Amino acid sequence: MELPAELKSAVARILDGTPPGALRQAAGALSARYRAEIRDGRLHVADDMAARAYLATRLPATYAAVRAAFAQSAGLLRDFTPRSMLDIGAGPGTAVFAASDCWPALATAVLVEKSPAMRRIGADLAAHAGPLFEWIDSDAETFFPVVPAADLVTAAYLLDEIAPETIGPLAIRLWELTRGLLIIVEPGTAAGWRRILTVRRTLIAAGASIAAPCPHQFDCPLVAPDWCHFARRLARSRLHRQAKDADVPWEDEKYIFLAASRMAPKRISARVLAPPRPSSGLVRLKLCNADGSVSERLVSRREGALFKAARKLDWGDALPAAPDE
Ligand SMILES: C[S@@+](CC[C@H](N)C(=O)[O-])C[C@H]1O[C@@H](n2cnc3c(N)ncnc32)[C@H](O)[C@@H]1O
Repeated sequence: MELPAELKSAVARILDGTPPGALRQAAGALSARYRAEIRDGRLHVADDMAARAYLATRLPATYAAVRAAFAQSAGLLRDFTPRSMLDIGAGPGTAVFAASDCWPALATAVLVEKSPAMRRIGADLAAHAGPLFEWIDSDAETFFPVVPAADLVTAAYLLDEIAPETIGPLAIRLWELTRGLLIIVEPGTAAGWRRILTVRRTLIAAGASIAAPCPHQFDCPLVAPDWCHFARRLARSRLHRQAKDADVPWEDEKYIFLAASRMAPKRISARVLAPPRPSSGLVRLKLCNADGSVSERLVSRREGALFKAARKLDWGDALPAAPDE
């Protein structure tokens, strides 16, 4: 996946002239804080250089993950055409850019973000691309001012930065503000999955329909050390490679998400939970099934059309429900 051309050139314009050494150092420090999930009361992105490092190294990855989560959700809610959006822990506006790419009718977006450096760089990005942005300086953990409900509400890569005990109450608050669809995206780590499970339990108890990725509302059938996540490959720009001191022109971003809907989603029979493993005449699939189970399914060439379809499946794809299901 590549960033949309307009966003990519806005990022390049903002980063133009940034001293490579300082960018590399800031990217290293940011990555270390994210990897250790440090919660020391300081913002990860506390100054302009950290915000630039975020733009160079994290925005392309979080964009890829969020855009993929939106596509997986939109495919099951064909009539959903959001006009308004609320994004919490918005960073530079990544999820709003991804949403306007997925749902081009999106007209307004309110972005709640606590870091002044992120808000500044996000406003600069949005001046050159994207729909109408309104930035709000507030804290998702303790309070955010009265904001209007929105068709689409999102929080991407936020929950690992807030106190664990605030995740449930925040999920409820966001659900109350959701007119159509609430999508939460987290890093595809075991800890990210556990946070998503907390949100999932909370929202099901509040009456939400889980649109994606789960094909059911039962308890998650996966048991640690296994966990649910997906991956999206993204192209690394020259600046991205420089900032990370990396040669490989791509990286795989692992992510997990939850889409909770007020509309009835299209039903699916299963979700592919791992990269399909083809061998001669066989495709091995790990599936989360509509009956709440997880299974390994071996599809053989003898199964004709099913085998053909299975060979085209990718990690994260949905298997349609049979007509009578
Ligand atoms: C990892 S970044 C993700 C940004 C963006 N959502 C994305 O996907 O690229 C998390 C963002 O949440 C913001 N944040 C963290 N805690 C917050 C809080 N309590 N209230 C509001 N924003 C917060 C951070 O400043 C940061 O910009």
